[in-house]
Amino acid sequence: MRLTQEFRKQFSQHEMRTHGRKNGFVTTGQEARLTKWLPVIGLSNSMTLKDAKIPENSPIVMEIGFGNGDFLVQLAKNHPEWMLIGVEIYLPGVAKAVARLEDAGLIERTRITQLPAQFVLTRQVEEEQLDGIFVNHPDPWPKARHHKRRIIQKDFARLMVSRLKPGGFIKLASDVDELAGWMREILDATPGLINVAGDAGYIERDEDRVFTKFEQRGLREGRSSQFLHYVKETKA
Ligand SMILES: C[S@@+](CC[C@H](N)C(=O)[O-])C[C@H]1O[C@@H](n2cnc3c(N)ncnc32)[C@H](O)[C@@H]1O
Repeated sequence: MRLTQEFRKQFSQHEMRTHGRKNGFVTTGQEARLTKWLPVIGLSNSMTLKDAKIPENSPIVMEIGFGNGDFLVQLAKNHPEWMLIGVEIYLPGVAKAVARLEDAGLIERTRITQLPAQFVLTRQVEEEQLDGIFVNHPDPWPKARHHKRRIIQKDFARLMVSRLKPGGFIKLASDVDELAGWMREILDATPGLINVAGDAGYIERDEDRVFTKFEQRGLREGRSSQFLHYVKETKA
């Protein structure tokens, strides 16, 4: 069984060039789950969150770049009141997460998309619609000439803030010191955001935060993570 061209067009294709992992394997079983679930909980490229049948009054929290879904599954378990929007451009990651969410009985509390976060936030999410955004261990792109590929950029930070409700949060993690500093510098300078730890500060790890596969690998290689927590100013 293969995902049809039509299916891919609806759920995967986008006009934006992205960087990072492209190859990878989706098993036949995972394809069957994608075909079953994306028409139900997928955010296709012609939809907005308004069309996503989100129960009224549910807080809406997004995870950008959820990898294989470790953190997303944990969020769904820890916050049964939240509706989660999972955004991940790597199809094998999306496939794994969908399978795990279904197995855990949590999938109907999520909306999943393989479209890039920039597209999703610009075209599919309205201003002040989100209660929170997580960005965990974004790709570091260590070479200076690749820094422009990093997801956290000045414009992207402003875009995230515009989509948050007043009082909404952005939480980030990285085990690459230089990238954590890069994100902190950009977000500290973004109008409308307050660094909960004070300017230039990091927060402690949240107690209920799961160690993702990615983070565990960093730990084995001797890197520990730093955590950032911002809140959008409420209007006076
Ligand atoms: C280093 S991995 C971290 C995965 C996961 N957050 C974790 O902590 O294990 C970064 C992830 O961000 C995804 N990503 C990169 N650019 C993205 C974009 N523009 N929109 C959505 N996801 C993106 C990548 O495909 C990759 O899975």
